[in-house]
Amino acid sequence: MRKKEDSRFISPMELPEDTAELSLRPRFLREMIGQQKIKQNLTIAIEAARERGEALDHVLLYGPPGLGKTTLSHIIANEMGVPIHTTSGPALEKPGDLAAILTSLEDQSVFFIDEIHRLSRVVEEVLYSAMEDFRLDVVIGQGPSARTIALNIPPFTLVGATTRAGLISSPMRSRFGIHCSFEFYTQEELTTIVLRSADILNVAIEKEGAEEIARRARGTPRIANRLLRRVRDYAQVRADGVVTREVAIRALQMLEIDALGLDQFDRRLLTAIVEKFDGGPVGLETLAAMLGEERDTIEDLYEPYLMQLGFLNRTSRGRAVTKAACEHLGLPYPAKRDGEQEAGQGQLF
Ligand SMILES: Nc1ncnc2c1ncn2[C@@H]1O[C@H](COP(=O)(O)OP(=O)(O)OP(=O)(O)O)[C@@H](O)[C@H]1O
Ligand SMILES: [Mg+2]
Repeated sequence: MRKKEDSRFISPMELPEDTAELSLRPRFLREMIGQQKIKQNLTIAIEAARERGEALDHVLLYGPPGLGKTTLSHIIANEMGVPIHTTSGPALEKPGDLAAILTSLEDQSVFFIDEIHRLSRVVEEVLYSAMEDFRLDVVIGQGPSARTIALNIPPFTLVGATTRAGLISSPMRSRFGIHCSFEFYTQEELTTIVLRSADILNVAIEKEGAEEIARRARGTPRIANRLLRRVRDYAQVRADGVVTREVAIRALQMLEIDALGLDQFDRRLLTAIVEKFDGGPVGLETLAAMLGEERDTIEDLYEPYLMQLGFLNRTSRGRAVTKAACEHLGLPYPAKRDGEQEAGQGQLF
């Protein structure tokens, strides 16, 4: 069944229509736009590992959906010139699943585990010794006759991805030598990404058209690419095929995405806090129940961008809207909050 957030056009989650993403993925670090810090660190680490002829240290990637974690795992494998094996936390149900993969890896391969925060406890523990000593402790048999044998496995690079670093246990986190925290992309970076994608997809676009799309893409390349495809359709059917600024604006208005990339859900969430809870703070549970959304959905998909915009604060007492949000939405800022000091931007993850 499709989850509710999937129907949201500007969801940063991967949607079935995003199949074209594959061709839009940068394959090497030099093709990857933005995320300078990550690129700098990785460039050095990869070069050093290659010079030594060793596997790259394990890499932990964290950041909101759609910013390029999966893409980067493939880039790492390409840069190292090694194969990649991909799986996800929930798919590794038993230690045996993990053992089957690890024992069949080629030397120095990249082993990518998406949603690594969803690994079961037992699998996670088996992974520790694999990461540390490239050794697997496998229990054979049951009861009193059970014994443990140690299997050597080829050196590999574990690349783990998660949307929130806070969900990773600290023993797990400490076993990664390289930590990459993804940030939302700037408008300029997103404009470059849109122009690059347009080029690959053979879309005629003007720079101003790309800028309009970038402005509404919520700092997220996946959304930028999706908006581009929708605007292209509109340009083809309702204009002469060229994505100009006017065409982009008209197309995006039709999709009810406002000038900052907010959609109906964002407006509903912010308006509810203002009108029902006097601007907040209101607890996440209460908010989720009122909006009929899952708590995780709100936390992972909606809040990061609203906080990035400075529209929402996470405080210890709950969520609160800011004056800037009210101004953007044309809502009165709750009087009781006037003059009250706004808490600084909350933790993103
Ligand atoms: N730096 C970048 N430059 C250009 N395009 C990018 C970049 N990062 C991501 N993209 C585009 O965004 C799409 C989504 O990226 P990706 O699937 O890697 O995100 P993700 O972080 O793994 O998301 P999720 O958390 O949902 O798994 C890619 O297919 C690619 O087209
Ligand atoms: Mg991914």
